[in-house]
Amino acid sequence: MDKIKTYQLLVKQVESLIIDENNTTGQLANAAAIIHETRHWWWTGFYLVNDGELQLGPFQGPVACYSIKPGRGVCGTAWQQDRTIVVPDVELFPGHIACSSLSRSEIVVPLHDAGGNVIAVLDIDSKDINAFDDVDAHYLQQIARVIEQHAFNHDS
Ligand code: SME
Repeated sequence: MDKIKTYQLLVKQVESLIIDENNTTGQLANAAAIIHETRHWWWTGFYLVNDGELQLGPFQGPVACYSIKPGRGVCGTAWQQDRTIVVPDVELFPGHIACSSLSRSEIVVPLHDAGGNVIAVLDIDSKDINAFDDVDAHYLQQIARVIEQHAFNHDS
């Protein structure tokens, strides 16, 4: 299957996996699992905004750092600037936090609450240089919209 069709299916798969559940941790864990398995990344997971920093959430892949301050690394920058960041070569990103020395490129997508505040980021790392393009950014943002709608707003 080509990349676009794979992503179109993945958006639906993520939604059907997490819809009508009431367990944010479990929903994020299953979302990370299916994204990771489908695209064979090196690390796929979530950092959650808590106590003024990003704290490690559910993920797939090697062990990772527990907390990231605003503006630090790719995740902290994506959070602070509230935008998707694609990093073709992590060694060229000032302040990149190397949780794994094998990580070579990265994408970080912010997730929001109903008021538009960033509540988490989806962070994906690859062992390949330049692994993420506009197609990845487009569909991972769609997936982020699905996750923020179903995994965080359980009372609405
Ligand atoms: N590389 C990230 C830190 C998180 S790990 O990749 C899992 C960054 O610079 O934000």
